[in-house]
Amino acid sequence: MLSSQRRDFEDKKKDECPYPQDFARWNALDYFRRPRTLRARRFYLTLAVTLLATLASLASFVPGFQRVHQAGPVSQAHAALNRDCSNCHDRLFQPVSRLFGCEQASVSNQRCRECHEGAAHHAKQAREPECASCHREHLGQEMVAKQVPDRNCTACHGELPGHLQPGQTTAFHGAITNFHRDHPEFQPAAPGKRDGAKIKFNHKAHLDLDLESLRVALKNAGRNDLAGLGAQLACADCHQMDAERRYVKPIVYENHCARCHALNAALVGDFAGDLRAAAVKFSGTPLPHREPAVVRAVLRDRLVAFAQQHKLVLRQGAPSVPRPLPWQPVTEVQWSWASDQVKKTEAVLFMNKQWGKHEKLTGCSHCHIENGQRDGLPVYQKTLIPERWYRHSVFNHGSHRTMACVDCHDKNAAGVKVAHSETTADILLPTLQTCQQCHKGPGAARNACVECHRYHER
Ligand code: HEC
Ligand code: HEC
Ligand code: HEC
Ligand code: HEC
Ligand code: HEC
Ligand code: HEC
Ligand code: HEC
Ligand code: HEC
Ligand code: HEC
Ligand code: HEC
Repeated sequence: MLSSQRRDFEDKKKDECPYPQDFARWNALDYFRRPRTLRARRFYLTLAVTLLATLASLASFVPGFQRVHQAGPVSQAHAALNRDCSNCHDRLFQPVSRLFGCEQASVSNQRCRECHEGAAHHAKQAREPECASCHREHLGQEMVAKQVPDRNCTACHGELPGHLQPGQTTAFHGAITNFHRDHPEFQPAAPGKRDGAKIKFNHKAHLDLDLESLRVALKNAGRNDLAGLGAQLACADCHQMDAERRYVKPIVYENHCARCHALNAALVGDFAGDLRAAAVKFSGTPLPHREPAVVRAVLRDRLVAFAQQHKLVLRQGAPSVPRPLPWQPVTEVQWSWASDQVKKTEAVLFMNKQWGKHEKLTGCSHCHIENGQRDGLPVYQKTLIPERWYRHSVFNHGSHRTMACVDCHDKNAAGVKVAHSETTADILLPTLQTCQQCHKGPGAARNACVECHRYHER
């Protein structure tokens, strides 16, 4: 039935009563021939959709609209580059090779290097991995630098000798795959290693000191050198953190030792009357903590000044002769007195001997190790107290500030506790096991290689 016929039929239907035998006629049996509006416009619709899609995908290449192609935002640090993907993507996308787990990324190392130094890890390494294999993008993370999985490191460190330039060898442990499985003991703290600092020191003697009785003794002498200290010395009285709270600042004599080991030079001889008070004052003024030659010069200057100021010396009167200190007219007597005193004082100050517990704590060799003499003065070995120990790793004291110092600096590989250490030679650094207690990975402190190590040489 065509539609015109149908219209007739519809008109008729209004008058007629629809009997069942009419049902076939009454029903629209030509439904399949009826033209459908959509099909008629199919061509145009398809064309329009295709055009729109083409336009949209073309538009998605316009900088600013390209983001539809990415799986997730780039890292925070690179957010500004994301306007134009070609800021990073200088090669064709690699969807197929990536499907098969190839490292090949559509971002070349050159492109990263245009903006970053990205220094190589080690001159000895056989190949340079793709930047993008470690610095994953489009994960929306804040930091691209900190999220490097262990496999990127163990790819080489699991079998290091096989990843060296031909002909190279390594002194480092060659097979590290996991911090808990096979990480070697920290070398500087390994059994048998010694602290090579050239200074005498005894942790036990200082940590055991009873400062209260020292304080009383000092008070009787009219001094208050121990202000700010408690009943016993604490680690923090000598070891303070740097501004970042990362590492410990170096020991400085003036800040950490001087209050108890002042470099005083006592006048030698009998001083009566007025002179007595002057001599006590002189002896109570510490010398500078400098090279022996400087100490000698200062001592001589001070003694000459003392001689000039005090009558005892001047009374012996003699014509003023210029002395080797041209800016100070010094008499012969003053000069010889001062020279004599210098000699006597130096004999004590620079004496090279092992000082007993109950002797004055002032001689240089109380702490320093003498290495011969020059011009009648001792030459002391450079102290060389190390500032850093685990230089192949990074550490942060601040992140562990809830812990007590001795939780980590408990006992060294040889089993000596800090509180029992009597010589500088003892290494007081934590061992691998100390860190493994907490750095266990998921659910505990992280144990990824990059938690403790840097990749790029600096
Ligand atoms: C900061 C640099 C950077 C920018 C900007 C950037 N990408 Fe990427 N993109 C990467 C890196 C690196 C990878 C490969 C490493 C990975 O798997 O994360 C990658 C991977 C991809 C991949 C996976 C396929 C392949 O072949 O590598 C796609 C798709 C992609 N990016 C799209 C985009 C789009 C679209 C934009 C722009 C909106 C964009 N990227 C902007 C760095 C960038
Ligand atoms: C057009 C310049 C440019 C390019 C290309 C570029 N970056 Fe960056 N990148 C920056 C800027 C700008 C910062 C943020 C400032 C900074 O920390 O130096 C940054 C920061 C970083 C950071 C430190 C971010 C953090 O988490 O602290 C890493 C890692 C990094 N980029 C790696 C890469 C890698 C890998 C590539 C190659 C895929 C790359 N960059 C390509 C400009 C660029
Ligand atoms: C391409 C191979 C390769 C990759 C990948 C690699 N390393 Fe290395 N690594 C080396 C080589 C080679 C040395 C140097 C050995 C030597 O000097 O004898 C080295 C040395 C080291 C050292 C000791 C020396 C030093 O300078 O501190 C540490 C620690 C280290 N790598 C950590 C890492 C970490 C962490 C990663 C992962 C982020 C990593 N490595 C990824 C090849 C690699
Ligand atoms: C009176 C000052 C003083 C006090 C208090 C003190 N130290 Fe020291 N410490 C030093 C000096 C000086 C050195 C450098 C000489 C040496 O290596 O023994 C040093 C070195 C160290 C070192 C690195 C050298 C090595 O051989 O390992 C560690 C670690 C250390 N101390 C931990 C501690 C801890 C923990 C405490 C508290 C329990 C403490 N110290 C208390 C003065 C002090
Ligand atoms: C609170 C006062 C005090 C401070 C601070 C102090 N000392 Fe001492 N030191 C003493 C006393 C008291 C003795 C004698 C202790 C004993 O023999 O039992 C001593 C002993 C020593 C000895 C001889 C140890 C031995 O084996 O008998 C040396 C070396 C020494 N100190 C070096 C230092 C150095 C270096 C510093 C600074 C880093 C320092 N001291 C800081 C009070 C102090
Ligand atoms: C109580 C221990 C102590 C006494 C006593 C002492 N020093 Fe030192 N001296 C140190 C310490 C600790 C250092 C390293 C830290 C610093 O430079 O302050 C040091 C460093 C030095 C340095 C710097 C060079 C280097 O090797 O680090 C000179 C120079 C020096 N002392 C000379 C002297 C002279 C000279 C005397 C005697 C007049 C003397 N000291 C007495 C503890 C002492
Ligand atoms: C919790 C901290 C920590 C973690 C996690 C860690 N290390 Fe270490 N690693 C250290 C310390 C500390 C040293 C000693 C550094 C030194 O000798 O200066 C060290 C030493 C090394 C060395 C030098 C070894 C030698 O023979 O002297 C290599 C290589 C190394 N680590 C690789 C790795 C690798 C690869 C991973 C991951 C599987 C890893 N580390 C995980 C702290 C860590
Ligand atoms: C979580 C363990 C841990 C705790 C807690 C800790 N340290 Fe350390 N400490 C270390 C490690 C690891 C090093 C080696 C750092 C390096 O690479 O130089 C170190 C080094 C040191 C050094 C040598 C100088 C230096 O910075 O390398 C001194 C001194 C020191 N610590 C004192 C202290 C004192 C004092 C405290 C308490 C306030 C303390 N430490 C708490 C782990 C710890
Ligand atoms: C009592 C548990 C505990 C012990 C023991 C411990 N750590 Fe940690 N460490 C932590 C925790 C928790 C964090 C995370 C803190 C944070 O994210 O600031 C951490 C963080 C760190 C970090 C990252 C610091 C930063 O802020 O970048 C390093 C590196 C580290 N530890 C090294 C070590 C080493 C090396 C040792 C052994 C000498 C050690 N830790 C022992 C609990 C511990
Ligand atoms: C084996 C893994 C690995 C590879 C390959 C790698 N990096 Fe890194 N990168 C790291 C780690 C881990 C850090 C964290 C800081 C560090 O170790 O120096 C980092 C940090 C950075 C930083 C931030 C530096 C900072 O001081 O915060 C930049 C920029 C960077 N990498 C660029 C590059 C470039 C460019 C390349 C390629 C030439 C590259 N990286 C290759 C692991 C890698």
